[in-house]
Amino acid sequence: MKDILTAPFVKEMKNTTANMYRLGWDERNGGNISYMLDESEVAEYLDLSQVIRTIPTGFDAKPLIGKIFIVTGTGKYFKNVQDDPENNLGIIRIAADGTTAELLWGYKDGGKFTSELPAHLMSHMARLKVDPENRVVMHSHPTNTLAMNFVHELDEKKLTHTLWEMCTECIVVFPDGVGVLPWMLCGNNQIGQATAKKMEEFRLVIWGMHGIYGAGKTMDETFGLIETVEKAAQIYMLTAHMPRINTIKDSEMMELAEAFGVEYRKDFLDL
Ligand code: 13P
Ligand code: ZN
Repeated sequence: MKDILTAPFVKEMKNTTANMYRLGWDERNGGNISYMLDESEVAEYLDLSQVIRTIPTGFDAKPLIGKIFIVTGTGKYFKNVQDDPENNLGIIRIAADGTTAELLWGYKDGGKFTSELPAHLMSHMARLKVDPENRVVMHSHPTNTLAMNFVHELDEKKLTHTLWEMCTECIVVFPDGVGVLPWMLCGNNQIGQATAKKMEEFRLVIWGMHGIYGAGKTMDETFGLIETVEKAAQIYMLTAHMPRINTIKDSEMMELAEAFGVEYRKDFLDL
C-alpha cells in the first residue's frame, strides 16, 4: 500500500487550500472543499474494508452511495491543511443507507466533515445530473466578491452582467453566469437544497453576504471559476465609485462568446 500523504488528491487539497488561504479568501475556518475520488485510485493508498468510524450526515444522499470524497474538516483552518492533512482533512464513503459517512482516513483528532456537507453533497448530486464528469465542489469567502454583495443588487442577471463587463474573458470562463441566493442561515439542509437547485443551472452560486460556491470537473477548473469571479469583483470594487468612461459592450460580449464557441446566457445580455 502506498503512503496516502503522497497521493495526488491529498497534494491537490493541500495546494488548493494553501492558495485560497494566501489569497485571503478563507479566514479562520472559512471555506470548505469536497472532491469525489475514484475508488481504484483510493485503493492504492487505503484498505477500503477498514472503516475507522461512521458519522451520520443528517440527509439522504442515495445517488452517492459508495462514492468516496476527500473533504475539509469542520472548524479546521485552510492555513493548517498543508502541515497537518490528517487532522484537517478526511476521506469518507457514503454508506449503503445513503445517510451515513464511513470515515476511511483523516479527522484524526475526532473531528468530522464540514458543516456545509449538505450543500456540498447535494450540489454534487445536482451537477452530476448535468455533467457526469463533475468532481469538485468548493466554497469560499473571497474578499471582493463578498464586498460587492453589499453594494450591488443581488440579482442573477444584473450581477452576472456586471461581472462579465469587468474582464474581457469573464463571459468565456463562466458563460452560464452566476446563480444568487439571498442571505440564508448556513450549515443546514435548507441552504443545501437551495444551493443544489441553483447548481442545476449554474456552476457558480453566490451565497448573499456570505461567499461563493463553485463546481467543476477538476480542482483547477473549480478554483479558476471562483478566481475569475473574484478578479472581476475586484475590478468592480476598484472602479464602482469612479465615473465609468469605458465599458465592454453587450455586442462585444456576444462577439467574444461566439468567437470562443461557448453556450452563454443570452437572456443575461441586453442585445
Ligand atoms: P466549516 O468549518 O464547517 O467548514 O464551515 C466554514 C464555512 O465557511 C461555513 O460556511
Ligand atoms: Zn462559509
